[in-house]
Amino acid sequence: MSENFHCVMGAHIEPGEEITAAAISAAKHELSDDADLVKEMGDMSIGHDHSHDHGDEEGSFCEESSLGNMEKDEQDSMLSTLGSFYLYRRRAHSHLTHRRRVAFCNMPLYQQSILHGEGIEFVYKTLNGLDIAIESNAEIAEKIFHHSIETFGIDTLALAEKEWLDSVTTEDHDKVRSTLKQFYRDWSAEGAAERAVCYTPVMEELERRFGSLAAKDKAKVQVLVPGAGLGRLAFDIAVAGYSAQGNENSYHQLMASNYILNYTTKKEQHTLYPFINSFSNHRTRENQMRGVKIPDVHPSTPLADAAHGDRFSMAAGDFVDSYSGTETAGAFNVVATVFFIDTAVNIFSYLETIWKCLCDGGVWINYGPLLWHWENREADLKLAGEDAQGMELTADEVVKVAEALGFKLEHREKGQKGEYIGAGEDSMLKWVYEGEFWVMTKVPKVTKYTR
Ligand SMILES: C[S@@+](CC[C@H](N)C(=O)[O-])C[C@H]1O[C@@H](n2cnc3c(N)ncnc32)[C@H](O)[C@@H]1O
Repeated sequence: MSENFHCVMGAHIEPGEEITAAAISAAKHELSDDADLVKEMGDMSIGHDHSHDHGDEEGSFCEESSLGNMEKDEQDSMLSTLGSFYLYRRRAHSHLTHRRRVAFCNMPLYQQSILHGEGIEFVYKTLNGLDIAIESNAEIAEKIFHHSIETFGIDTLALAEKEWLDSVTTEDHDKVRSTLKQFYRDWSAEGAAERAVCYTPVMEELERRFGSLAAKDKAKVQVLVPGAGLGRLAFDIAVAGYSAQGNENSYHQLMASNYILNYTTKKEQHTLYPFINSFSNHRTRENQMRGVKIPDVHPSTPLADAAHGDRFSMAAGDFVDSYSGTETAGAFNVVATVFFIDTAVNIFSYLETIWKCLCDGGVWINYGPLLWHWENREADLKLAGEDAQGMELTADEVVKVAEALGFKLEHREKGQKGEYIGAGEDSMLKWVYEGEFWVMTKVPKVTKYTR
């Protein structure tokens, strides 16, 4: 996604309409059920900035913001993402269970008989159980598909064309699986332990700095969450009374968060089976097959309050493209980054963007590891049209660079240990991070280095 492209977490957003929770809330009332879909799809639109200016004013929708005016690669990317959610059901049945049934039939009879035996029952228990689990996950994937058509203003004529699914790549399919799994982290009760490690320190720092403000002043504290994923941290911040904007550049994440935030109808509406896609490293079959209920809270209920005060929004687009321009300069009191800064090609551009969009004295709160996403991926960078010029720094070095660019380090500590979508107690593989937690403030008017 190369352009600064704002989307509202909601539905039926008119050109020129502010991308705020209030707009979302109002829009949602217009969308009652799928029967209205055809009508809605006609006038659904999504803001799209054609100016290529950085940091366009939030909600400044282009007059001609329909899909027809978007760049072709943007459309293609959206359609292939949409297609991958649409195809989840058949692909999962084909890859997870059908293939194994065929393999089972080709095994020698004595092996089949052992696998049929008590305590294993691979076909009856595992494969049939997996089919049921796939159906449950597919229900979520298809809800995401349906509601994305609405929110993202997809041209239904494009979907009527036979070839529209041809563009779906293996990477798109992988992303659907990882995105569904991510609901476990952000929106299940079981994911609370992971969230406590990385979101709670952010919430506590906000509380320490702004918690004593009266509600109306708290609402004026503008918090930006770049790389917001499925939106839970931004949501929690808004629910705590602040104004929060999540920013994401992945359509998979945006489409999924749009559904969970705006269209789920009740708490624990779905059963998600996050771990069915991998057969590796499970001590017990139950570990692979366990389901979790999502969402653990019904987002619309607490968000209704945030909606009244325009305190919650999601913005689609690349972080640097979206927030390094003059329109967003000094716009935020806090930037909260969790598991994000290591997605930078060049950490300088992230740090400079954080600095720029913070107000003087504004606070940058960070928790995360440094698993540099682009390390050894020069070829991918070239494909994405980026110049490979990043440096994979250590945490100490990132802090030093930040200080040189105009941040004052207020606090730094080794964060708690935690997993990122860990597969549970009965997983034989645990990938445990010990992220860095730090708080820095923006020192205005740094003249040592020119930006
Ligand atoms: C490791 S995930 C972390 C998500 C979330 N913060 C969490 O803790 O679960 C990093 C997120 O950053 C997003 N991302 C990566 N590069 C980005 C960019 N340049 N602009 C906006 N979002 C970006 C990815 O799509 C992904 O959702």
